[in-house]
Amino acid sequence: MTTKDATEAELRTAVERELSRARTDLEHLVRIPGIAFPEFDHAEVDRSAEAVATLLRGCGLETDVVRAGGQPAVLGRCPAPPGAPTVLLYAHHDVQPPGDEALWDSDPFEPVERDGRLYGRGAADDKAGLMAHVVALRAFGDALPVGVVVFVEGEEEYGSASLSELLRQHHDKLRADVIVIADSANWDIGVPALTTSLRGIVNCVVEVRTLDAEVHSGLFGGAVPDALTALVRLLATLHDDAGDVVVDGLVVGPESTVDFPADRVRAESGMVDGVRFTGTGSMADRLWTRPSLSVLGIDAPSVLQAGNALVPLARAKISVRLAPGDDPGKAFAALRDHLEAYRPWGAALSVTFDGGGAPCVIDTTGPHYETIRSALRTAWDGVSPEEIGLGGSIPAVSAFQAEFPDATIVVTGVEDPYTQAHGPNESLHLGEFGRVCLAEALVLGGLARPTG
Ligand code: BES
Ligand code: MN
Repeated sequence: MTTKDATEAELRTAVERELSRARTDLEHLVRIPGIAFPEFDHAEVDRSAEAVATLLRGCGLETDVVRAGGQPAVLGRCPAPPGAPTVLLYAHHDVQPPGDEALWDSDPFEPVERDGRLYGRGAADDKAGLMAHVVALRAFGDALPVGVVVFVEGEEEYGSASLSELLRQHHDKLRADVIVIADSANWDIGVPALTTSLRGIVNCVVEVRTLDAEVHSGLFGGAVPDALTALVRLLATLHDDAGDVVVDGLVVGPESTVDFPADRVRAESGMVDGVRFTGTGSMADRLWTRPSLSVLGIDAPSVLQAGNALVPLARAKISVRLAPGDDPGKAFAALRDHLEAYRPWGAALSVTFDGGGAPCVIDTTGPHYETIRSALRTAWDGVSPEEIGLGGSIPAVSAFQAEFPDATIVVTGVEDPYTQAHGPNESLHLGEFGRVCLAEALVLGGLARPTG
């Protein structure tokens, strides 16, 4: 692009032109298994950060790899032309672990296309979010109409522990008028979305001990409690029979007005036939505005190893999704108090905080949002964005809100109902990806032109 005021048609052509190179770059990124979880090789996260830095330098941004005690983030900058606003573009380059590789139809770290979708861990979440930023920048060549800061985090999937510190340290470089967080989902294939609320999260580990060591289950069973039964009984106090969470003190958010069809939830989640939904209220409320609580894992003897012995110690990892308006510190205290109050048979109990992120509500009013809605509508051929909640969490959103309270925050993304983020066979819809890229280029172009 050579003119400062790129037209919609020029941007369409430019984005179209950039998509095949972006596809190659995305495939290169997917081949790097950068996983921030402690048991994985963090040299891969470093390699991933370097690959991101190379892409941003290629866009003409002054780029540094930065860290604050955690995994590396990448910060790229290009100053604003006189009078133009600055836009911060966020994504994360770390990915979820692949999980059970036997459940994948192809190697999680070897991208392949099937039926218009690109399969691979991180192909959508969130390496495509990053590539959408890159395509939007490339579409303008060396004639960016706004100032741009690109911030690509390296430990989002592991809870963003050092993010607030990074934002504080680089506050002046990160300052922007509009912050685009490309890590969420669209409403459906062909229907864009703006995310207006996200749930928070509190994870914790609960440990129950009843015995010094294993003892014969026949000799002592009946009088002496085993830790696994005690743990299971304790976990069973966390929901009522309908499946609503019954931990006193958790916030229930305001009701959503979005109709999220139950059939969609059933189909998109792959619920087994005959399994019923949990909780009460509308589907949107259950998924977006109310707390949920899941048991993610248990440490106890495996079935194969289990002898006829009472289990002395058992542990569970619990994850609570927090409604908009709740607070991770308060929610953890509420959960701990509940577990202590229901401690079975006097068992020794410890409850350890294992990471969290705040929920948030996003203000989608103001002139910037008119530009953003119009860009999405144009990129989706006249289909207006749905305003949706997100049941998942993006700690970056509340971290940016806290550090830059005056910025307009926009939460968008490349995911769709079939992405299977965090599951086997994660994939990106390549057609929708093109629309996300175009929308973002239109956002940058639109923000450069002040609205009357
Ligand atoms: N991109 C996801 C959030 C998301 C999930 C968006 C589903 C759209 C659909 C994000 O990377 C994520 O998974 N976040 C973690 C955060 C946690 C580790 C604090 C999550 O929600 O589990
Ligand atoms: Mn993500």
